[in-house]
Amino acid sequence: MKTQIIEKFIEVFQQEPHSVYFSPGRINLIGEHTDYNEGFVMPGAINLGIYVAIAANGLPFSRIYSIDFDEEFSISLNSLAPKKGHWATYIMGVVSQLQQAGYPVKGFDMVFGGDLPVGAGLSSSAAIECAVGFSISSLFGFNIPKHSLIHYAQKAEHLFAGVQCGIMDQFTSVMGKKDHVIKLDCRDLSFDYFPLDLGVFQLLLVDTQVQHSLADSAYNRRRNECAEVVLMAQQNQVGVTSLRDLKLKHLDEIKPFIDRAVLDRGTYVIEENERVIKASEALKEGEIFKVGELMYATHEGLSRKYDVSCQELDFLVDQTKSLDYVIGSRMMGGGFGGCTINIIQKEKAGHFKEIIASAYLDKFGKSPKFYTISLGDGTREI
Ligand code: GLA
Repeated sequence: MKTQIIEKFIEVFQQEPHSVYFSPGRINLIGEHTDYNEGFVMPGAINLGIYVAIAANGLPFSRIYSIDFDEEFSISLNSLAPKKGHWATYIMGVVSQLQQAGYPVKGFDMVFGGDLPVGAGLSSSAAIECAVGFSISSLFGFNIPKHSLIHYAQKAEHLFAGVQCGIMDQFTSVMGKKDHVIKLDCRDLSFDYFPLDLGVFQLLLVDTQVQHSLADSAYNRRRNECAEVVLMAQQNQVGVTSLRDLKLKHLDEIKPFIDRAVLDRGTYVIEENERVIKASEALKEGEIFKVGELMYATHEGLSRKYDVSCQELDFLVDQTKSLDYVIGSRMMGGGFGGCTINIIQKEKAGHFKEIIASAYLDKFGKSPKFYTISLGDGTREI
């Protein structure tokens, strides 16, 4: 991939790149929709990601070439604005953040591409944002600290892509560690690496191949609903700043005054935070089966209480329940499509793919995709 990116760079811009950066996508073992509620998550960076080649061009604008879209796009550095739905929006969002933080970004040429499926819930947008931030920082010698780059990437997503995402994806893309998941406290960004040794089991992702167009607005709505629960709870409770500060008993107190669906969002988040803690304890003890059970419970919560699943995801998870070699399965990421994450016995992976693919085809008339991933390091120069 690196060679391909460099060759393309030379072909498009007639010079060698200054550097090439790689930023990975992520999986999330457990802890979904908890990050923007100051809760816990347990993601890991993967071996698939986005590659960016960059060089200065001495011009008042930047030229960016996307291998996947086979398209070049120029951006004026004096007037950056989001271009809804366009791939360059993420890049412009990061540049704009760097400028606002006072970094004098000059004209650059960039080529990017990768092996991370887009729209599969593996955080390709965070991977692009982080690769772009790092490569610009390195090109102009800004030496921006990792934590700042993570925040600029998240802000780019908020302000340019219009998704009020939490910090999980950008943090993981930058901080990932080979063969480890990260238990991250999204309140203060303290974290621990946990080795993920699954023995005779492995992770396998099943991609529904569906993406619902309303996913972004539904995501932002969930965020508002969580804020509504917090606001209500603050009337009875002091020192509450997020759902992280609440227990289920606090929700009982506000039950009569709040919409049932909104209350369910709060219940889910409180329960999910507890599941992440339990999963991290189980992982420490090597109790993989326990982790699997918690994953099923997460799916149930995401589907019934948080209402971010869809029939394709529910179907894939349900199918695994009769397979004794699958010990955990759930939808992963924001929801409304994308992938399920499964823990399955390695030697049964072939059988699993066969029967799941055929059941899915019968039901939805299309084939799912399967990704066997490994956990890798975070953003780096390659
Ligand atoms: C998306 C967001 C993350 C997180 C997940 C759900 O991936 O970008 O911040 O909220 O959804 O856990």
